[in-house]
Amino acid sequence: MPADLAYNLNFLHPLAMWGLLALSGYAMLLGIKAKKTRTADAETRKTLIKGHFAKRHYLYGSAVLAVMVLGTFGGMAVTYLNNGKLFVGPHLLVGIAMTTMLVLAAALSPLMQHGNLIARKIHVGLNMGVVTLFLWQALTGMQIVTKIWENRPA
Ligand code: HEM
Ligand code: HEM
Repeated sequence: MPADLAYNLNFLHPLAMWGLLALSGYAMLLGIKAKKTRTADAETRKTLIKGHFAKRHYLYGSAVLAVMVLGTFGGMAVTYLNNGKLFVGPHLLVGIAMTTMLVLAAALSPLMQHGNLIARKIHVGLNMGVVTLFLWQALTGMQIVTKIWENRPA
């Protein structure tokens, strides 16, 4: 692969991940509203249920899951293409941890749909952790972007 193409690929992952941060925030809002709908009194439920929050949360959550898996392995692939190795640092390790947590949380979907309360608690705990780590990941990610830009080919 030409070196300049490999270099330019460096900006694909950061751009996609900023988009994913926004999408994750939206999926989180839908999840919170799904819970509000589930626990509301009969009268409030009648209005909230029209928002189809649980269904939309599942849809957007699945999109977050797909982009997160592609983004993580994509980031590793681009790093390897440019450096012939990976850098075992906070951004790589936290990234792998986040993806693992999200996959485990998603795997609880069938249990949650059968009304398993423990599965719901674990799902929310894992994913609120993912969203929090995402903020940290954006910080270390931008540090890497700065470094790549400073070392750009002449
Ligand atoms: C706004 C947020 C983020 C920014 C700005 C960012 C930026 C970067 C940059 C510049 C690289 C170098 C390779 C490349 O350019 O493709 C990278 C690598 C990587 N990123 Fe991100 N990233 C972000 C979020 C994430 C998230 C959410 C994950 C996973 C959940 C992730 C996982 C990785 C991994 C695993 C690597 C490979 C690191 C290595 O092997 O050294 N990143 N990221
Ligand atoms: C951004 C990450 C995510 C956050 C913050 C999040 C948060 C939540 C919250 C707060 C609930 C409500 C729990 C309750 O009713 O007590 C929920 C439910 C649920 N989530 Fe997520 N979630 C995320 C990602 C995902 C993903 C990736 C999937 C699957 C692909 C998923 C599937 C579900 C399902 C099936 C339910 C149950 C909905 C129902 O009541 O039928 N979520 N989530």
